Amino acid sequence: MSQIENQNIEEARDYHGATKHSYWSVRSGGHFLDWETKPSLFKLYPTLPVIPLPHDVEPPDAQALAAVSAFEPVGDGPVDLGRLAQVLFYCAGLTKKKIYPGGEEHYFRAAACTGALYEVEIYVVSSDLPGLAAGVYHFSPADFALRHLREGDFRGELVRAAAGEEAVSRAPVTLILTAIFWRNAWKYQARAYRHFYWNSGTILANLLATTASASISARVVSGFIDARVDRLLGIDAEREASLCLVPLGAHSPAPDPPDVPPISPETVPLSKEEVDYPEIRRMRAASMLVSEEEVQAWRAAFSRPPSPPSGGTRYPLDPLAEGIDSGRALGDVILRRGSTRRFASTAISFPQLSTILDRSTRGVPADFLGGPGTSLIDTYLIANDVEGLPGGAFYFSPSDRALELLKEGGFRREAGYLCLEQQLGADASVVVFFLADLSRLLDRYGNRGYAAAQLEAGIVGGKIYLCAYALGLGTTGTTFYDDDVTAFFSPHAQGKSAIFAVALGRAARVPGRAEPLSPGAH
Ligand SMILES: Cc1cc2nc3c(=O)[nH]c(=O)nc-3n(C[C@H](O)[C@H](O)[C@H](O)COP(=O)(O)O)c2cc1C
Repeated sequence: MSQIENQNIEEARDYHGATKHSYWSVRSGGHFLDWETKPSLFKLYPTLPVIPLPHDVEPPDAQALAAVSAFEPVGDGPVDLGRLAQVLFYCAGLTKKKIYPGGEEHYFRAAACTGALYEVEIYVVSSDLPGLAAGVYHFSPADFALRHLREGDFRGELVRAAAGEEAVSRAPVTLILTAIFWRNAWKYQARAYRHFYWNSGTILANLLATTASASISARVVSGFIDARVDRLLGIDAEREASLCLVPLGAHSPAPDPPDVPPISPETVPLSKEEVDYPEIRRMRAASMLVSEEEVQAWRAAFSRPPSPPSGGTRYPLDPLAEGIDSGRALGDVILRRGSTRRFASTAISFPQLSTILDRSTRGVPADFLGGPGTSLIDTYLIANDVEGLPGGAFYFSPSDRALELLKEGGFRREAGYLCLEQQLGADASVVVFFLADLSRLLDRYGNRGYAAAQLEAGIVGGKIYLCAYALGLGTTGTTFYDDDVTAFFSPHAQGKSAIFAVALGRAARVPGRAEPLSPGAH
């Protein structure tokens, strides 16, 4: 597909408009799931050398809430093969197996993903590490192993792609997250492009917490020349896209790279047929960066004007004291995590809600954001049942860390409706909605800013998952009726667009629990 400029922001506006859910769109869509073409959940390279990862992975042992809220890790822990295996397992490993009544086995992974379709792949670009030769690798969760794509130290190629970005230039290892279009579009069609970023976000929430637990620096780098990274990985850019780089560790300057000849390693087809969604390819093409100048311009900090006060009563957050924490270690939280299938329709406490909001919104170390507390997204919520807080619609004011009451009342029915008429929203204690001022965002960042907002919302949503489980509560990501969400929170939310939503509360017990797995054991 020919290049469309990142600054041609009608592309993102059109894509967003065309992929909104509404009461009518879900009734007139006519899409059905063709089980004959369900894509394989694993990218398989049948001919590449296999490098097994160690199975004796140490669980990340920091207190989960502390690890989730850390912005910059304290210390500079070493990155070796064991650490790499830990990070990969706790962000994208197979952590649970469920056997359905017909005997069919399904593997769940460390991070939540729309439809459990797991379209996000992870690649590793490494220097020489103890136990691992410098190279470019694909991470295969199926057998907890790496596949060797290129031999040699190619980190310098990433430094060039990212126009000298500092963290990339010093990292001994950089992970690259990509998305395979068809694997998620099979179910979600063109809207899958949004999902790529939400689902990368939940992986990144786990990853950032795991690296914080190990005192390893990590950063989300979204500004890079896409075509260079795609070429390094040998991916088919019409079917798979590089989404972000995550440099791990520091103090290992990357040398100039060797030549990067094209590669196109053989992969097993995902299914016997694929349906093309040109909207995804078009949106992807329209958000690519093509020059160093564009990448450098991407990195300048974004500043967002404060939302006008609503005049409503303010409820300052009242989080549980830090240090006493919940006592749950991060590794344990990630292994136990699972999306709540049914909420108990009972209350959580205001200190619990406060802790979750406080810990999950302290900032994301990303090249498109400034320091802690900067954000592209606005947080709104519906409180269905929170002890110590009236029922109603609220805006979370980040500057004074308070909830601002927009309208008081019982909105369970509306909350369920806004979550695409799912009972989850009605039964949850709270539904959190992330919105963004897309006009400002696109003016500043171009089409790629659209992806950045989706990604940040996915990361904060992923942090909410971890905080909720650390407190013994349940949560699930949820989709939504776009314009109805904006209308519900207006006039405060006038002009903003719905980006992502998460429901939380107490989980009701449902039969058929999945069985936990250790690395490589399935
Ligand atoms: C971004 C996102 C959106 C989701 N949306 C819904 C939803 O609308 N309804 C639902 O029942 N589950 C939803 N889920 C939960 C997924 O179905 C769930 O993550 C997946 O089945 C994997 O299961 P696990 O999270 O228990 O590991 C969502 C998850 C994510 C990450």
